[in-house]
Amino acid sequence: MAQLIVALDFPRQEAALSLARELRGFVPWCKVGMELFTVGGPALIESLKHLHYNVFLDLKFYDIPHTVGQAVRAAASLGIDMLTLHCQGGERMCREAAEAASGMASGKPLLFGVTVLTSFMPGEMPGISAAPAEHALTLAHGAQTWGLDGVVCSGHEAGHIKAALPGLQCLCPGIRPAGSAAGDQRRIMTPARAVAQGADFLVVGRPILEAPSPVEAARRILAEMAAGRAL
Ligand code: C5P
Repeated sequence: MAQLIVALDFPRQEAALSLARELRGFVPWCKVGMELFTVGGPALIESLKHLHYNVFLDLKFYDIPHTVGQAVRAAASLGIDMLTLHCQGGERMCREAAEAASGMASGKPLLFGVTVLTSFMPGEMPGISAAPAEHALTLAHGAQTWGLDGVVCSGHEAGHIKAALPGLQCLCPGIRPAGSAAGDQRRIMTPARAVAQGADFLVVGRPILEAPSPVEAARRILAEMAAGRAL
């Protein structure tokens, strides 16, 4: 069953924790990205764990294999439950990350490989002429072979990826309920449709964060996700 992740994309940890308190109990996961981790660090992760969240650390690692392996160990030691790295980092980087995660006595976090960012339109990826869907599938094959648990992809790619690689989990950002603004996202999809395509996790930021009532917005998205299961 697909699960909702709220992206706590805030510049200050007080705002992030305040929303996390409002949504606790019915949104099971929260995402800490570059901006929030830069200001909040490990102490913020600890606070979110105290609120009983599953924590997704979205720092999108991309570096030489040894550096990424050490970063995965450091992140896992904070007690996070999921993290991201770029599939584009290739086989040695991904394998080193998977090995580092598996060796953690404190519990293995799920590793998700970023395929093609949902803000890219066809032709915008530097040096890559393949269409986003084709390139995402190539990288997803790599992710599965190299020991990752899943991939980050747009809802438009999730269906093809799940059909080709049923054992790989799909985490989809770029989710927009009907009537909400796209912002900088390009390859967007509604929550119901993404679930119907086989998404395992939906990441939603601005449609919840900028709503007059974030609690109501999150409840509506959960209802749309439930409807998507029947499509
Ligand atoms: O506000 P919005 O719903 O667009 O937020 C989406 C979140 O998912 C952001 O935190 C963004 O960094 C993240 N994300 C993404 N595309 C990816 C990976 C992560 O939009 N491929």
